[in-house]
Amino acid sequence: MLQHTQGGFGEDVDSWKTLMFIYNSALKEVNTKLEILNDEFKHVHQYNPIEYIKSRIKSPESIVKKLKRHGYESSIGNMMEHVNDIAGIRIVCSFTSDIYRMAEMIGKQNDLTIVSVKDYIKHPKKSGYKSYHMLVTIPIFMSDRVADTKVEIQIRTMAMDFWASLEHKIYYKFEGNAPDYISRDLRECSGIVSMLDAKMLSLNEAILKAKKEQEAK
Ligand code: GTP
Ligand code: MG
Repeated sequence: MLQHTQGGFGEDVDSWKTLMFIYNSALKEVNTKLEILNDEFKHVHQYNPIEYIKSRIKSPESIVKKLKRHGYESSIGNMMEHVNDIAGIRIVCSFTSDIYRMAEMIGKQNDLTIVSVKDYIKHPKKSGYKSYHMLVTIPIFMSDRVADTKVEIQIRTMAMDFWASLEHKIYYKFEGNAPDYISRDLRECSGIVSMLDAKMLSLNEAILKAKKEQEAK
């Protein structure tokens, strides 16, 4: 696909810029897709499964850090091969059921290839982290070639997002060496957040049921 160069990123500013252009384009493509799915869902079911979407390109510092952590030198080839979250999108949904609806809709898109799925909702991380992750590729059409580009999609509820954002802030201050009781309390908070999600979901279902019964009368 692209010409690979070895060594520091500084050696090939042109391919670095091209690569960032491609990852940015991939974010735009996936964002548009998600907006269309959300609009269509609203049109059919009269409500939005998506509360909000955040997207970001990983900073060069984080890319280098991640490569180093996994024992790879900083080259464009290595980052394309080994860093899967250079382009990242986070979809924040209202209810847990919306997460699986979104994932299914994404899975059905013909021009997206699903590379891998990690369901940290059914199988939460030891930290207490919950989210549904999909690694996809999307073809980016340029004047002379097509580049299949990786995008990491994280799907979660607002409550899961609240926990993950704060946990990240709290935990990272310790740089991975937090005292045991802190990790335990964070896991406990994750449980509370899940209870909140379950309660909100059942309230929503109860409301929908009550509305239907009222309409039937
Ligand atoms: P990274 O090297 O962190 O990207 O992990 P990975 O390549 O093994 O992938 P994984 O699916 O485990 O995690 C990818 C992303 O999920 C991370 O970059 C975070 O955004 C998020 N994540 C994973 N675990 C945690 C966690 O314990 N706490 C928080 N706050 N976020 C997490
Ligand atoms: Mg990451």
